[in-house]
Amino acid sequence: MGHNNNYCSMQQKQQQQLQLTNGRRLRNVATAKRSIPTMTDYLKLHTQLAQVGQEHLVKFWPELTDDERAILVRDITELDLNEIKQYFDRATISMNENGIKLDDRLQPIADDQILSIARTAEDKLNVYREEGLQQISNGHVAVLLMAGGQGTRLGFDHPKGMYDVGLQSGKTLFRIQAERIRKLEQLAEQQTGKHGHIVWYIMTSEHTKQPTLAYFEANNYFGLREENVLLFEQGSLPCFDYDGRIILDEKHRVARSPDGNGGIYRAMKNAGILEDMRRRDVRYLHAHSVDNILIKVADPVFIGYCVQEQADCAAKVVEKSAPNEAVGVVAMVDGKHQVVEYSEISAKTSEMRNSNGRLTFSAGNICNHFFTADFLHKIGSTFERELKLHVAKKKIPFVDNAGKRLTPDKPNGIKIEKFVFDVFEFAEKFVAMEVLRDEEFSALKNADAAGKDCPSTARADLHRLHRKYIENAGGLVHGDVCEISPSVSYAGENLEQLVKGKSFSSPVHLRDSLNGHL
Ligand code: UD1
Repeated sequence: MGHNNNYCSMQQKQQQQLQLTNGRRLRNVATAKRSIPTMTDYLKLHTQLAQVGQEHLVKFWPELTDDERAILVRDITELDLNEIKQYFDRATISMNENGIKLDDRLQPIADDQILSIARTAEDKLNVYREEGLQQISNGHVAVLLMAGGQGTRLGFDHPKGMYDVGLQSGKTLFRIQAERIRKLEQLAEQQTGKHGHIVWYIMTSEHTKQPTLAYFEANNYFGLREENVLLFEQGSLPCFDYDGRIILDEKHRVARSPDGNGGIYRAMKNAGILEDMRRRDVRYLHAHSVDNILIKVADPVFIGYCVQEQADCAAKVVEKSAPNEAVGVVAMVDGKHQVVEYSEISAKTSEMRNSNGRLTFSAGNICNHFFTADFLHKIGSTFERELKLHVAKKKIPFVDNAGKRLTPDKPNGIKIEKFVFDVFEFAEKFVAMEVLRDEEFSALKNADAAGKDCPSTARADLHRLHRKYIENAGGLVHGDVCEISPSVSYAGENLEQLVKGKSFSSPVHLRDSLNGHL
């Protein structure tokens, strides 16, 4: 099993550092070879563990086989025991702060730090678009896809990106994103005459790495160059009981879970992604979640805006639909930008409106971010260790004193996660871009039974948008089902010659004319 933990000692880190193989594939060197632990190894480990109150982790040692001992030693040595202790202490503080309201310390994003697409003239947006396309042509832009989540709510047993949302094309989220990247490279080349590649970094987790890699290989990287698609694995953190003791998942396994989407910062550093960016002269990164079917991957308007504003960190946001919509909002707390959870604001504050009737705290976070490479280096080398910890009480399977594995029926411990947006406060210049929800955000979170953020809504939102693209270009669509392949248009551009003055009946499927379809 590709167990990769990023919370390890320096020496371990060097041994385990994920390495690039064939310029693309990442391999955990530590898992390649495993030696049989001796009694001396055991005694040494016991002493180290006892110093930090974790010696129970080796209590089943006499019962383990050589192989199991080797796995346990690896699991334990991958933990940086001193740091782990601090994690629990900080997690406890964070838990105690849960529920504290931030109203008195809260300010909305300043007007000059947020650009609303709806209220910005088209020629200004074109300037940003051209800047973004220029940067793409120069090879300075990469995408970071956060694809480490398990998608349990969707009830799909594979990585979410492999989900077929039921479009006519049968395309999965991964394929749609790949095709948008290809199209954007072409658009950039058409504008500048120069072909630049968009590098696609994909963060997976222990659970999603192998199936994601196999899926990309089976699909020939969707026509992208293999060396420009790099998968890497995020780290994990051990699960604790309420007394700070690390939970044993099996007699020879430490219980752990992915360290959250804020794991990107440590994983990018440890997996050599920051170094890869430096080597390729990638200067700007668009990072986003896997589940938004409308995602404008490497959106040149967003990139161009951030570059021209000289921002080091940015977020796309959508206007909150209602005061009680349960999304985090981007705001300022004590003068620093952060995402404030719905639960951290009182109803009165979330209902506050400006004189124009808009909600005062309306900048809904959609897990869609921009970073400069310099900023990521700075986070990796300094601020990563200060990232906030988010703690959840969970039912964590454990082995009892008799060595029997049990699944509790109520929470028995904590899982710790970091969040990608918790770096906003370290930015020297943070900006936000408010985009239109119907053009840029429709998340796939649940199965259809939930009735929202599900396959039916994702499909309907894409159909509606693509129909709007055709209508904006002077065509007519009768009926609801309408899909435009990214090979035809990335975001509604260049459709006039195909659709103007024409009328289409649902189901409409605009595909590359090279394939003989329109
Ligand atoms: C996320 C945002 C939330 C936003 C919402 C919009 C965070 C922490 N929260 O919430 O503010 O309103 O999206 O849809 O960003 N992931 C990993 N590794 C992990 C956990 C998650 O790569 O350990 C990835 C997921 O695969 C997904 C993305 O991060 O692509 C967001 O994770 P998810 O759990 O879906 O976050 P939400 O709760 O939806």
